[in-house]
Amino acid sequence: MNIIVKQDEQTLAQTVAEAMAAYINAHPGALLCFAAGDTPLSAFRALIELQKDNKVDLTSVYYVGLDEWVGLGAETRGSCVQVMYDNYYTPAGIPADHVRVFDGLNKDVEQEKTRIQSWIDERGGIDFTLLGIGMNGHIGFNEPYSGLKDGCIYIELDDTTKSVSKKYFDTPLPVEYGIGVGAGELKKADTVFLMASGAKKAEIVKKTTQTPDEAVPSSLLNDHLNVTLFIDEAAASLL
Ligand code: GLP
Repeated sequence: MNIIVKQDEQTLAQTVAEAMAAYINAHPGALLCFAAGDTPLSAFRALIELQKDNKVDLTSVYYVGLDEWVGLGAETRGSCVQVMYDNYYTPAGIPADHVRVFDGLNKDVEQEKTRIQSWIDERGGIDFTLLGIGMNGHIGFNEPYSGLKDGCIYIELDDTTKSVSKKYFDTPLPVEYGIGVGAGELKKADTVFLMASGAKKAEIVKKTTQTPDEAVPSSLLNDHLNVTLFIDEAAASLL
C-alpha cells in the first residue's frame, strides 16, 4: 500500500482533497463512496474550496453513501446522512439525482440494501472510495471479523463502535445495528483512499499496515492494487 504522511491534520486534508480532485477530474461520471465520521470533514472543506477556485467540478461524478446507523435519519444530528449533506453534498451543490444514501429509518432493511445496491450496479460499481479508519479498524460498518462482504451489509455493531458513537450525538443514542456497503464491494473500487489522523489512531494505523487480519477490517484492504493510506504524523507515530 502507498503511505502518505503529512505534518498535521490540516496539511493532510489539503493533500487528500487535491488527490480527490485529481481523481474526479480524470474520471467524470465515476461513482464515489465517501465515509462520514470526523476524519474526512476537513478534506471535504478543502475539496469544496478547490471547486470554488474552479479546480474541480464535484457535480461531474455520482455518489453513494457508505453507511448509516439503523434507526437514525436526517433529523438526528450525527447521523451519517446529516453529516454528509451538511458537510459535503449541500455545500458542494451536488444535484439530488447524483446521490443515493442509506435511509436508516426504513424498517425494511433488505429493501434498503437492495435499493442502494441497485444504484451501485446501475453505475457499474463503485470506482473510488474515501474511508476513515475507525478506532477498532472498521471501515464504514464493516466491523471486526465481518470479512470482505460483497454487496450491502446489515450488521450488529461492535462494542467499540457503540461506545465511540457517543461522540457524534448530542445525547448518547442506543444504536445497535448499522447498514452500509460491504468491504468486499468497496475493495472492487479501482482507487481506495484510507485516512486517519491523531495519536488515538496510531495503534490501529499500525495494525492496518500489517498482515491482513479479520480482526482489523482496514487491514483487509492493504493488499488492494491501488490503495493509499493518508495519515498525519501523530497517526503515523508507531509505524
Ligand atoms: C463511524 C462511521 C464511519 C466512519 C468511521 C470512522 O462509525 N460509521 O462512516 O468512517 O466510523 O469514524 P471517525 O472518522 O469519526 O473516527
